Amino acid sequence: MSQLDASTTFHPGGLRGTIDVPGDKSISHRALMLASYGEQPVEIRNLNPGRDVRATLEALIALGADAERSADAIVIRGGRLREPMATIDCMNSGSTARMMLGLCAGAGIRARFDGDDSLRRRPMEPVSAQLRAFGAKIETTNGLLPLQMLGRPEIETRRFILITPSAQVKSALLFAGLYAGVPVTVLGDRGSRDHTERMLRYFGADIEWNGQTIELRSGPTSQKPIDVAGDFSAAAFFLVAGTIAPGSELMIRNVGVNPTRTGLLDALLAMGANIELHNEREVSGEPVADIVVRHAALTGATFGPDVALRAIDEIPLLAVAAAFAQGETKITGVKELRAKESDRVAAIERLLGAVDIAVEASTNGLRISGGAPRANGRVVETHHDHRIAMATAVLATAAGPIAIDSGESIDVSFPAFTETLRSVQHA
Ligand code: S3P
Repeated sequence: MSQLDASTTFHPGGLRGTIDVPGDKSISHRALMLASYGEQPVEIRNLNPGRDVRATLEALIALGADAERSADAIVIRGGRLREPMATIDCMNSGSTARMMLGLCAGAGIRARFDGDDSLRRRPMEPVSAQLRAFGAKIETTNGLLPLQMLGRPEIETRRFILITPSAQVKSALLFAGLYAGVPVTVLGDRGSRDHTERMLRYFGADIEWNGQTIELRSGPTSQKPIDVAGDFSAAAFFLVAGTIAPGSELMIRNVGVNPTRTGLLDALLAMGANIELHNEREVSGEPVADIVVRHAALTGATFGPDVALRAIDEIPLLAVAAAFAQGETKITGVKELRAKESDRVAAIERLLGAVDIAVEASTNGLRISGGAPRANGRVVETHHDHRIAMATAVLATAAGPIAIDSGESIDVSFPAFTETLRSVQHA
């Protein structure tokens, strides 16, 4: 595509008003998987409406869980899960593939897993290797999907040292222990998102964790309704747009502010952003707040792996903010970004290339020299990565009109994104 196409072009303009964002994608996957554990029906409200979470829901239904939808909730009835009749199609969702693999390993369910072209390029060996140590028989295709989970004849290791700093792998091991009915210990976490741990505790499981070690001693004792907090990773688009687009003053209601997720918030505040948390409360075991963001001038800063881990899905947005900051921004701990829905380091280079901002990428770091980003008419290739499509919209709010090659990927996590943006944007 050489010209700006109206249907996929994002425009400049500040954001004013109040919005809600969809339910948290990470919490939604876990809510479905934990609700399927017991025989009691569990009501889940504000489930994320995107395709990734649908992949998990359909996988659980294929395993024998029952789902009943009403206008504003879904009720899951689990219990005894069984072998699926067909391949589990994880579509674009790494969380579905990795965490469902753990669940099946625990339950001793044989299943074949596959996904779309993007997911077929993402590593499945780290999770498979750890589940093999648990006792699962898994055959991958050179470390990738499609893969076969061939059952779990017996339980071997119950004590794991995490090979990668991945919340998905950590959660897969916890689900394996839970569904096998055995205690597990996971060592070597580096403070990755703790939604699985929190939800297990919310359901009465005997679990302790401290950012490094997780001990799951026994499973849920009660199956309560879950209200899924608004997705911080969805709010993040509006936090950055509200900061960089002149004239913005926006309230985002009911956002999950679990500290393992809010690295971007800390980074923006360190750069001079004007963001306030109001009405802080706890909802279904997770911290939640209403967030107000106002336009502010930013200054470049340096961020280490701690921020990167807690902002792993928001690094493209941090790069967009850095493009508008005065001076240089350095971010280290980003090598995992190469293996997300697309190579997000390359995506950041393309994204900022569309506004003539140079990015220096090394193996594990990014260096961005802020300036005066201006759209140069280049169309951003998203490689079907939802977060890159939406980050382009954020960039356009302050840099001028920018088109993307395709916006269909947005449905993966935030189907109403464009509508939500339009509802508060003023030219
Ligand atoms: C997720 C963990 C992160 C994140 C992904 C969702 C989760 O992946 O990038 O979007 O829900 O646990 P890793 O744990 O593989 O880093």
